[in-house]
Amino acid sequence: MEVISSITQLRARLAGECAIAFVPTMGNLHEGHLDLMRRAREHGSCVVASIFVNPLQFGPNEDFDQYPRTLAADCAKLQGLVDVVFAPSVNEMYPAQQTVFVEPSPIADELCGAARPGHFRGMATVVLKLLNIVQPQVALFGKKDYQQLYIIRQMVAQLNLPIQIIGGETVRAADGLALSSRNQYLTEAERSEAVFLNRTLQSMRAAILNGGRDYELIQQQAVEALVSHGWLVDYVEIRTRQDLRRATLDARNLVILAAARLGKTRLLDNVEVCVEA
Ligand code: PAF
Repeated sequence: MEVISSITQLRARLAGECAIAFVPTMGNLHEGHLDLMRRAREHGSCVVASIFVNPLQFGPNEDFDQYPRTLAADCAKLQGLVDVVFAPSVNEMYPAQQTVFVEPSPIADELCGAARPGHFRGMATVVLKLLNIVQPQVALFGKKDYQQLYIIRQMVAQLNLPIQIIGGETVRAADGLALSSRNQYLTEAERSEAVFLNRTLQSMRAAILNGGRDYELIQQQAVEALVSHGWLVDYVEIRTRQDLRRATLDARNLVILAAARLGKTRLLDNVEVCVEA
């Protein structure tokens, strides 16, 4: 496994590779990332992971400085799973002030975008840069960041990039908490409480599968349950999987998405639901 920090050296290393599977990350790798790396191997003879904490996707009061940077430990986890780790500096990725951006579709202003203005613009811009640098045939992203995956799929389709995008299932702790690099910010008490987010989404899913069709009410009850457990809720929404619009009663393939804060930590989760006709 090679660790490369320069774009020129990476391009030289990857020249001639014709089946590159790429997993972009911000590092601090957990089993969810490693699962994506294993899946990547099924899709490419050369697996590339990137590790880059992208300043463009953090707001001024967010955790960019605090975000855990654990390159040596990450590389140890990637040994045997990937062929190349691309770990550029901020200066390598942004040698001059970035003045050209990807403007994602309006859905980027809803859900996580409403609480994090500019986040998806910064995310989509760095993902496009990384895809242009690595030029993979396949790229993999976790479904935990459901809206992110949706926006990337749209970007790749609408900008005609010849890249297959694959979504990896969310990997969870034994109690159901979705794995995330931000889970380590949780105190012990918060960690015990954190599973309540997934439990709430599972209860909503059960309510829909049991015939509940008043989606507004189901959402409102979920928000109230979370608030009563001490959560600060950004959103809990039942949306259609196809376009992430608010679910209508004729929609069959739904996803329940939530973002909520426990103390200083913002957690995301989602569950998919199929409604019978
Ligand atoms: O999901 C992430 O880790 C990041 O948003 C990504 C896709 C690597 C872009 O910085």
